[in-house]
Amino acid sequence: GKAHRVAVIGGDGIGPEVVAEALKVVRATGVALETVEVPLGAAHYLATGEVLEDDTLRTLQGVDAILLGAIGPPLGSTEVPSGLLERGLLLRLRFALDLYVNLRPFNGVPGAIGAGADFVVVRENTEGPYAGEGGSLRRGTPHEVATQGSVNTRMGVERCVRYAFDLARRRPRRQLTLVHKTNVLTFAGDLWYRTVSEVAGDYPEVTWDYLHVDACCIHLVERPERFDVVVTDNLFGDILTDLAGAVAGGIGFAASANLNPARTGPSMFEPVHGAAHDIVGTGRANPLAAIRSAAMMLEHLGEQDAAARIEKALADYVAGHQPGTPFPSTTEVGDAIAERV
Ligand code: IPM
Ligand code: MN
Repeated sequence: GKAHRVAVIGGDGIGPEVVAEALKVVRATGVALETVEVPLGAAHYLATGEVLEDDTLRTLQGVDAILLGAIGPPLGSTEVPSGLLERGLLLRLRFALDLYVNLRPFNGVPGAIGAGADFVVVRENTEGPYAGEGGSLRRGTPHEVATQGSVNTRMGVERCVRYAFDLARRRPRRQLTLVHKTNVLTFAGDLWYRTVSEVAGDYPEVTWDYLHVDACCIHLVERPERFDVVVTDNLFGDILTDLAGAVAGGIGFAASANLNPARTGPSMFEPVHGAAHDIVGTGRANPLAAIRSAAMMLEHLGEQDAAARIEKALADYVAGHQPGTPFPSTTEVGDAIAERV
């Protein structure tokens, strides 16, 4: 087929290392990519003073997909103000490209407490507390008041919920769990609960249930195999997916897709882990999350066969790995997966 145009944002720290392995694996499937390297991240900001230039955003808007490694300065670095890259780059891309679903799959690796986990979190990705509503009064005084609202629109919640039901319908167990905190967050919780109840009518083959987010944490640790598709708001989804990553075997395996399911522009694919500056150049970066993210990218680009081959190669590789022993180096893992696809 025709080459897919992919913007590659290696970013900072181990980002470029893991993205290189992901691209190696994609190439091994025979799928043709036309890549354009886009320099963004902490290093780019320190070199140019720019977080995300308008021209760069236009370039990104024009590609078929974006593959991102990791963004962020070394821990403890004071040169990049906290929150600047998060808000100015990652969140700006999610909002500007309308990446309204953050899809995060979890499959337990052998030896993990959640070895039996096989579920997907559908995290709303453009609203909730991330919308930035709020403000502060009398800042810096003893009478300071800070408010931080959560924006939940019927349209925004419903499109995310519909995505989750569509996904649940295509999975063998066809089970969906809404996670919220309806007992305390009465307005937002009510909107989410009503939306799920109503949309469920269009999906009679999907069974659904509801968990408060705190109870969900217990289930995630004690009985992760109970979950199939989890749908939740932006902040709950952020926190639950770190927990899910830890339970399923470590954040080194956690992949994600920031999706614009309406396809009005490109979607963005990134491992959940960060830049891990402390292990740059050591060969210890685990490229499996980036490789799985690239498989999700291929799936979204219509390359189902290649995506399935990568997923199978990953699953076989991880199943064959002796729990508790270290993985080979970053490039050796990439080579091993590339050979299997
Ligand atoms: C994630 C990250 C981001 C988020 C941060 C870096 C803004 O934690 O992708 O989960 O909170 O969404
Ligand atoms: Mn997070």
